[in-house]
Amino acid sequence: MKTVIEPFRIKVVEPIRLTTPTERESIIRKAHLNMFNIHARDVLIDLLTDSGTSAMSSEQWSAMMRGDESYAGSESFFRLYDQVQSMTGFEHILPTHQGRASERILFGLVGGPDKVIPNNSHFDTTRANIECTGAQAIDLVIDEGHDPQSRHPFKGNMDIDKLEALIEREGAGRIPICMITITNNSGGGQPVSMENMRAVQKVCRSHKIPFFLDACRFAENAYFIKKREPGFEDRTVSSIVRDIFDLCDGATISAKKDGLVNIGGLLLLRDSELAQQARNSLILTEGFPTYGGLAGRDLDALAQGFREILDEAYLDYRIRSTAYLGEKLVEQGVPILEPPGGHAIYLDAKRFCPHIEPLQFPAQAIAVGLYRMAGIRTVEIGSVMFGQGDTPADMELVRLAIPRRVYTQSHIDYVIEAIIELYAKRQELRGLRIVDAPMALRHFTAKFEEIDPM
Ligand code: F0G
Repeated sequence: MKTVIEPFRIKVVEPIRLTTPTERESIIRKAHLNMFNIHARDVLIDLLTDSGTSAMSSEQWSAMMRGDESYAGSESFFRLYDQVQSMTGFEHILPTHQGRASERILFGLVGGPDKVIPNNSHFDTTRANIECTGAQAIDLVIDEGHDPQSRHPFKGNMDIDKLEALIEREGAGRIPICMITITNNSGGGQPVSMENMRAVQKVCRSHKIPFFLDACRFAENAYFIKKREPGFEDRTVSSIVRDIFDLCDGATISAKKDGLVNIGGLLLLRDSELAQQARNSLILTEGFPTYGGLAGRDLDALAQGFREILDEAYLDYRIRSTAYLGEKLVEQGVPILEPPGGHAIYLDAKRFCPHIEPLQFPAQAIAVGLYRMAGIRTVEIGSVMFGQGDTPADMELVRLAIPRRVYTQSHIDYVIEAIIELYAKRQELRGLRIVDAPMALRHFTAKFEEIDPM
């Protein structure tokens, strides 16, 4: 059979409140044209993020009842520990409340002024946690990773020449760790090949630089390796996941993605001394090392989530359904970042709206247009998020992130119809200006207004 069905049936439903275009017009105006200011009840299809928005399974909800809420030595922790240990091989496993807490603890220990930390592309919280220690965060993704039209199968790869040049220039002593983000969220949810991770690890080894992963979407990345990288087609995803973790000296993980939970994170470490320092730091802000800012029931839900994410029928559905959205848009000539990523489709706003200058935020204009037309919430990843003064961002994208196991194919068909209709009317979209914004992370709270046509 060619049709890929959702490999689950639905037992609990959450109603979607339908709104009219007139209602949405007043909602979006009250929100100052910023998606983060819209109440969730006013959204029909919420594609703002795939983080913490997964639907949990009946097994996960059952596991929550087993949660052991003991302060120290909770049984839930040991169930999570055993699952993560067998999946990754790591001995030091620290739970945290979410990915950025793991980042804060790690960079608090290895960062600091004069340090330089390379990555394929740093996610914004990773960069912020590095920079706030005084260290520099450097992106070294391959050139194809900057070109929305390149169909390279592993566009998340790191450029090995650029890494070697960086080590040569800065000296290995200033590089406390080297990271790779799988999949590369800031670069379009694109995977990294096993070959590339092995090559980066080899360079790191030869300079005694520990190699770390930002492994939020490790299972989606492993599935892409199985499907696209020669020699992996007959391997199980769980054995590929193990190979990936065997390569690295540590990892930060936001479990809100491939952990299939609504909250949670992990910090994995190989080095016992660093792990002890990390536990001491964890106690300061997250809690005792056997719960790390989470309830016992959260740890049990996560242990079960990590079992379910390795199910290849799920991963097949997940990656194929994201590709379905992308392919239907491409068929109708809608410009997207190609090839489709794992967790999201990104509209290429520069080609969607060439009549809107980058500094008039074409991707934000599309996001506003999609909300008005169909009540769909997306997020701008372009000059609002990454622009600095008069310098626009590298790419102007609208991210349609797909929550895991939440929407059915008819929801996605509705999204496709809305985007195709908006694309036909794209000339009516108008550029925006920011009327009020804070100094840092302005995309969360900025207020916009539309620029009148000349
Ligand atoms: N690293 C990557 C690659 C991420 O995508 C995220 C979160 C984090 C780290 C931080 O994890 O949110 O649990 O603290 N990404 C979300 C997103 C917010 O919408 O892409 P967190």
